[in-house]
Amino acid sequence: MTATTSDLGPDAESQPARRDFLGLTAAAAAAVGAGAIVWPMVDSMNPSSDVLAMSTIEVDLTPIALGQGVIVLWRGQPVFIRHRTEDEIKLAREAVVAELRDPATDVDRVKPGHEQWLVVSAICTHLGCVPGGSKSNQPRGEFGGWFCPCHGSQYDTAGRIRKGPAPLNLPLVNYAFQSDTKIIIG
Ligand code: FES
Repeated sequence: MTATTSDLGPDAESQPARRDFLGLTAAAAAAVGAGAIVWPMVDSMNPSSDVLAMSTIEVDLTPIALGQGVIVLWRGQPVFIRHRTEDEIKLAREAVVAELRDPATDVDRVKPGHEQWLVVSAICTHLGCVPGGSKSNQPRGEFGGWFCPCHGSQYDTAGRIRKGPAPLNLPLVNYAFQSDTKIIIG
């Protein structure tokens, strides 16, 4: 089953980001449930059905508007998916990598040919909060990415730490494009 944002409706932009998270979490949970039913009939010797089902999730990118982001749940952990604008990509690529706290190029944090999509862990590397900024009407900090309000860490549009107490960039997660509008995380 595909995790989707389409159930958010036309008023989604004005709703709290939490609603996006819960909607996507429910979709992912439904996928886990379906796997749990099928798996015992296939092979009872391999890892348990819930472990297998949670190893990957499929995400439809079409509902994520340019400049917006969502949070999906993968293996019980929140993951940011951000649809970056040209300006946001440009901003990320203008950073002087050697001066970054956790040096990394923007190119190395996205997939070739899909630079408009950034997929990273949504867990702040300071103390584990989920930073805000997925929605364009939320504070994104000085670098346009995400702002962690609990202690003030600021991430840029490549998910790199730029200011505040967090020591490291938002970790990359393993994913692949199944098509231009669909990714598999895990
Ligand atoms: S957990 Fe994000 S700044 Fe402290």
